[in-house]
Amino acid sequence: MSTNTPRHFLQFKDLSREEFDYLFERITWIKAKFKAYEPYHPMFDRTLVMIFEKASTRTRLSFEAGMQQLGGSAIYLNTRDSQLGRGEPVEDAAQVISRMCDLVMIRTFEQEIIERFAANSRVPVINGLTNEYHPCQILADIHTFIEHRGPIRGRTVAWIGDSNNMCNTWLQAAELLDFNVHVSTPPGYEVEAERAGLYGTGHFEQFADPIDACRGADLVTTDVWTSMGFEAENEERKKAFADWQVDGEMMAVAANDAVFMHCLPAHRGEEVTAEVIDGPHSVVWDEAENRLHAQKALMEYLLLGRLQG
Ligand code: CP
Ligand code: NVA
Repeated sequence: MSTNTPRHFLQFKDLSREEFDYLFERITWIKAKFKAYEPYHPMFDRTLVMIFEKASTRTRLSFEAGMQQLGGSAIYLNTRDSQLGRGEPVEDAAQVISRMCDLVMIRTFEQEIIERFAANSRVPVINGLTNEYHPCQILADIHTFIEHRGPIRGRTVAWIGDSNNMCNTWLQAAELLDFNVHVSTPPGYEVEAERAGLYGTGHFEQFADPIDACRGADLVTTDVWTSMGFEAENEERKKAFADWQVDGEMMAVAANDAVFMHCLPAHRGEEVTAEVIDGPHSVVWDEAENRLHAQKALMEYLLLGRLQG
């Protein structure tokens, strides 16, 4: 177990632009090794604990498979089967869990919960999604953009739909990595700059009409209308978001070579049409796969620091 002050990844801006540049290169290297079936076990004997207070397919699978591929092991805890759901203080859980492992990943509700955990953890803590942020997904998404279209600096991302954890994280990334985000949400669901944790560097613009947000965009992206934890608002949201469905018309006004992304799971016929998500602009399967490679690079960096070759 590490005894140094741990480095956490609780929101996108916890790392610097220079660190992301390193990570994007490292993701490429780790991915190439995986594709060539070359064993790489820098995490031999290391243990990741994954705590899930919300459902997951991609995040669990990519962290668990990723840790195994790096030579370590992963333990899955959820609220239902552990003391976490029975009122044990998060500070106590952090003290105990972080004495028995090398790395923790948490998917939970309020950002405050993961911050309290990290403040009491002896090992690095990674945000696997909170109500406010989803930084691992944006790490993979930006890497996917770079793979398909080159550097993201100076490019334009159109975010259509809810100003949720994904949207907030895109906005933080834009400030850090110097690209622009055009956001279009229904009235009443606009971005809250403070909740998004922005510095106010003017890297985003809000548009009333989603078509205007998509005009000339290099990347068009969206997410579910109702995020986990907000299910009680589902019917109300379906009505409010009906005109914020990414469709062929929106993709037609984006750049000719625009890519479409969605963190998944998707609801065809709600936030995106089947024509778009299953169409030629879509890179959603590469995006999903890159969760694995991105998180392997992230875990390696937080635990072992910068490595050569
Ligand atoms: N995109 C994503 O985080 O998927 P899961 O909810 O399946 O983990
Ligand atoms: N915004 C979605 C993302 C799911 C991966 C949610 O929080 O449910």
